Amino acid sequence: MSQDRIPPRVRAMYGPEDLSSSPSFAGGYINFGYWEAIPLTDELDDADRTRSQQDLYRRVLGEFGRPAGSRVAEIGCGRGLGSALALREFDFASVCGVDIHPEQLARARAANAELLATHGGRLCYELGAADAQPFPDASLDALYSVEAAQHFRELTGFARESARVLRPGGQLVMTTFFSTGPQAAAPLAELLESFADGLDVAHPIDDFEADLGKAGFTSVRVESIGAAVWPGLDRYLEGTPVRGLWPRNFLIAWRQGLLDYYLVSATRAEEG
Ligand SMILES: C[S@@+](CC[C@H](N)C(=O)[O-])C[C@H]1O[C@@H](n2cnc3c(N)ncnc32)[C@H](O)[C@@H]1O
Repeated sequence: MSQDRIPPRVRAMYGPEDLSSSPSFAGGYINFGYWEAIPLTDELDDADRTRSQQDLYRRVLGEFGRPAGSRVAEIGCGRGLGSALALREFDFASVCGVDIHPEQLARARAANAELLATHGGRLCYELGAADAQPFPDASLDALYSVEAAQHFRELTGFARESARVLRPGGQLVMTTFFSTGPQAAAPLAELLESFADGLDVAHPIDDFEADLGKAGFTSVRVESIGAAVWPGLDRYLEGTPVRGLWPRNFLIAWRQGLLDYYLVSATRAEEG
């Protein structure tokens, strides 16, 4: 995979800038978290923040209903902690974390060296992209992605490639933030520098739903989970040194109806 395929802001953010070291995050995970089970007191700490991010993974992985023997992959695995959690807590046959950024993969392999050594063959981390996944046709039972698709330049290729690698009847579950429609792109770029500088793309949720249908998915389900994400994240950020900086505008953008956090699940159509 050529480094040229990585958009410049994505290359910098997950290379030298190492987003996981920002005070907005904790514990090596890099997502905004699912806060439903965490009391939003004034004293949220790093343990709460880490748990919120693990709970976002649990919310996604819970959609699979623990199919025994599943061959599973994650797209945009970052430091690989969510892939390790999937293996430990959900008992899949194998989990392979995929990321476009070689530095993230090096971090994932280092952070999970013990598990890789003890569960050799059941856990792996591979270089690949949402639209160029390193798997043969119909080789996976399940595929998931957590807060990575906002970085993909387009989602048509992600939908098409996910349909290719899943076996008929296999399931895709993903979560991240999407815009509520094309009209939101300009105001989002005004409010949030990650949209203005090209780190994030304001993908309209309806377009992605259509992409999944065209790629051969059925039973497409889209659920808004923003109420369990943005208020909790903002309460945490209130108590950190990132106070006043751009991440806090996510809550404002959500309240203005410009974006939302969604959980999307879909099933690869059976053949014939
Ligand atoms: C916000 S981080 C999320 C990491 C992890 N899922 C988590 O929740 O901790 C997004 C990750 O997606 C990766 N990424 C960005 N564009 C990608 C693409 N087109 N294909 C695969 N991975 C990509 C980045 O390198 C980064 O590691």
